[in-house]
Amino acid sequence: MQRPRISTNLAISADGKISAVARIPSGWTSKQDHARLLELRENADALLVGKGTLENDRMTMRVPGKTTQPLRCVVSRGGDFDAEQPLFHSTGGDIHLLVTDRESMGLPEIARPNVTLHAQSLADFLERLALTYAVKNLHCEGGGQLIRALAELDVIDEFHLTLAGHTLFGGKDATTPTGVPAAFLPATRLYEMSHFEARPDMGECYLSYIRSC
Ligand SMILES: NC(=O)c1ccc[n+]([C@@H]2O[C@H](COP(=O)([O-])OP(=O)(O)OC[C@H]3O[C@@H](n4cnc5c(N)ncnc54)[C@H](OP(=O)(O)O)[C@@H]3O)[C@@H](O)[C@H]2O)c1
Repeated sequence: MQRPRISTNLAISADGKISAVARIPSGWTSKQDHARLLELRENADALLVGKGTLENDRMTMRVPGKTTQPLRCVVSRGGDFDAEQPLFHSTGGDIHLLVTDRESMGLPEIARPNVTLHAQSLADFLERLALTYAVKNLHCEGGGQLIRALAELDVIDEFHLTLAGHTLFGGKDATTPTGVPAAFLPATRLYEMSHFEARPDMGECYLSYIRSC
């Protein structure tokens, strides 16, 4: 299967959660972490998020100051996108909505020239991004459910992590980098660290890992 190179970025609390049980929105890490998030978008031809993250974080998925903005891709099983979301009212790259479950797919409310709807599997969508839209670098910003699906397909080449030592979320149902806590991946995925930057003043550590065979 042809596909883009795929990187991901997540912040985790000291107890390995990406959010609280109540799904608090992003903004619980430092300004430095936010700057890193934007920096990691720089090289992307397309950004990818799950619908839960789009809606919870009210994302616009832009790269400030960049002339050619990355495509903005959102994944859902059932569709039913909220047309009031800031994504659909902001300037930026073209928007590509993926609906993987055709059976439950409702008619999209969003009909705009810059929005394209795709009804196919996640794997086929990745291939389409590479072949039809010439996406070489795809950067995924979560959430856990989507990253889990990418990890199950074993298509994550690089994994960026902010270890936020300043926060403990707790909570049996608080989501983790691979979705539902304790639902482990079916097999090992081995990554080697390629970057380590400790910021004790922020209570954070910025890490990057590359897939090793
Ligand atoms: N700490 C961080 O760095 C970070 C990063 C991102 C998000 N978050 C937080 O994490 C929470 C959201 O996490 P989450 O795991 O629930 O979110 P998610 O993966 O963004 O969203 C889940 C929803 O996205 C769609 N989806 C995900 N994977 C899919 C797949 N393989 N195929 C088809 N559709 C798929 C489904 O939408 P439908 O329901 O429409 O079918 C699913 O219900 C929020 O609180 C957010 O703020 C934290």
